[in-house]
Amino acid sequence: MARLKIYGKTKLCGRVKISGAKNEALKAIPLTVILKNKVRICNAPNIIDVVNQAKILESLGAKISFADNVISVDPTLITRHDITSTCAGKLRASIVFAGPLLARFGEVSLPYPGGCLIGARPIDTHLNAFRQVGAKIKENKDVFSICLANPTNSNVILQEKSVTATENIVLYAAGVPVKTKIENCAIEPEITDLLHQLVKAGCRIKGIGERSVEIIGSKDLSIDEFTVMPDRIEAGTFAAAFISTGGQGEISPFPAESLTSFLDILEDCGAKIKIKDDTAIVSGGGKLKPFKISTAPYPDFPTDLQSPMSLIAACAEGESIIIENMFENRLFYLNELKKMGLKAEILDPHTAKINGGANLKPTTIESLDLRSGITLLIAAIMTEGTTIIENAQIIDRGYEKIEEKLKALGAKIERID
Ligand code: EPZ
Repeated sequence: MARLKIYGKTKLCGRVKISGAKNEALKAIPLTVILKNKVRICNAPNIIDVVNQAKILESLGAKISFADNVISVDPTLITRHDITSTCAGKLRASIVFAGPLLARFGEVSLPYPGGCLIGARPIDTHLNAFRQVGAKIKENKDVFSICLANPTNSNVILQEKSVTATENIVLYAAGVPVKTKIENCAIEPEITDLLHQLVKAGCRIKGIGERSVEIIGSKDLSIDEFTVMPDRIEAGTFAAAFISTGGQGEISPFPAESLTSFLDILEDCGAKIKIKDDTAIVSGGGKLKPFKISTAPYPDFPTDLQSPMSLIAACAEGESIIIENMFENRLFYLNELKKMGLKAEILDPHTAKINGGANLKPTTIESLDLRSGITLLIAAIMTEGTTIIENAQIIDRGYEKIEEKLKALGAKIERID
């Protein structure tokens, strides 16, 4: 259990470099299962979830090395299609091994995925998609298995615009020499980039970036390098950090084109953010107006940037509303911020209101999931006095060198393991 001691109050100032996208790197690793040659995954963030996802791949027989943000993989040595690694229960993304392993071996078994406790997070959408391509599924309390010896041309309609379910069935479809049409896809930028990389590897794909894609897969896919895109959620989080601490900063690379709904809200609040090429120049300290956000699948407001917005609400003059449509347990971090004096009320599992202007007070709080964990960390930085954050190791799951980056911007943070 790691605890962080934060000595506030600091206005974060300076330049910060954004790491590779966690939620793309976590799918690039299972993608290697359907490649027939060695591959280097570049710009991979060195974070716990990526290390655990790589360990799962290694447990299947792949040869892996991970240094200087490059994961070198030799997938030709993979012999197993049953995931028994305990790492699978530590993160949600482990489920995305199902599709590529099914494509390569015709069968796969794996434990139910782990991940942040932010909702029920069932896997029905995934299993239902595999049934639609003709797979047989067996479930028991800890493990589920999927079999499909002879892939055929199929049509899949996803039950919901699920990010990992889309990626799972896409990686299955990419690895089998048939045509698969997938409708009601999620279209997050990480998925669009994954599809582009699959085309580079030898897939034929129609409808990239749209809700309906058509994939003709292949057993002969190969790609020498997969470069992970910048992490748009980390980039947005740092923008919220500069604004809410009243600081001044430059964030790069800043993928503004994949943050339009977030930037629109910042503009509505009166936040000062200027985009120049691939850099965002952010100035906090000005007057902020209250806002209303309602999270939804891309291109609408991203649920992973919902909690950092609570800090901007804390600085705004008036009442802001947060509607978290995607998860039913993703507002409870507000109870931790209320211990610091935030004037917030959780009206129901999906709705909260926050009144700005409170002077936050230092105390001991607990990080509940990785996105709210970074939010509590920034809240402590913007608070006069010493705040302790319990369960802080959860932040390391998703943010590379986070203490180093924040200290370089002036934050005073001490880790107490
Ligand atoms: C992925 O999770 C991400 N994880 C999550 O990031 C992210 O919050 C989520 O997508 C949504 O963007 C990874 O990529 C590893 P979902 P996933 O299936 O695929 C509901 C983080 O902090 N929903 O897209 O498991 C759905 O029922 C993590 O990096 C709708 O209601 O999420 C579920 O409760 C947390 N309607 C939730 O949203 C829809 O049309 C997320 O669903 C689609 C989804």
